[in-house]
Amino acid sequence: MKIIIINGPNLNLLGKREPGIYGDVSFEEFYKGLQLKYPNIELQYFQSNIEGEIIDKIQETGFTFDGIILNAAAYTHTSVGIGDVIKAIQSPVIEVHISNIYQRESFRHQSFISPNAKGLIAGFGMQSYELALLSFINGE
Ligand code: DQA
Repeated sequence: MKIIIINGPNLNLLGKREPGIYGDVSFEEFYKGLQLKYPNIELQYFQSNIEGEIIDKIQETGFTFDGIILNAAAYTHTSVGIGDVIKAIQSPVIEVHISNIYQRESFRHQSFISPNAKGLIAGFGMQSYELALLSFINGE
């Protein structure tokens, strides 16, 4: 099973960035643990601060991967282009957020991803990614 995790802007700063909201673990550290825990899954990870690079990666993986776990970060709330590419591809996309975006500022309540995603997991810290992965593994 081939799954890719795609992270959007500023998520390269996880561990250092607003630890009260996003925790103090870097994504690289968390990702290593995930790879060890799920050795039978062909996991890939991609992060970019650039909207077009995220769209390119979704196009590149969206016809061959079994699933995409997408935290588009701030682009969730602004990007028609990322919303559109999810409609254009075949692989199911699960939208993930570390924080509960519905508990935060109202501009975070708008998502261009949700209407086109298979599902949404938010508010479970880094565990949000693992819950998304489990839903692919369990074939939900
Ligand atoms: C986020 C929530 C977004 O509103 C924010 O812009 C992020 C991270 C999250 O994982 O909680 O950068 O996607």
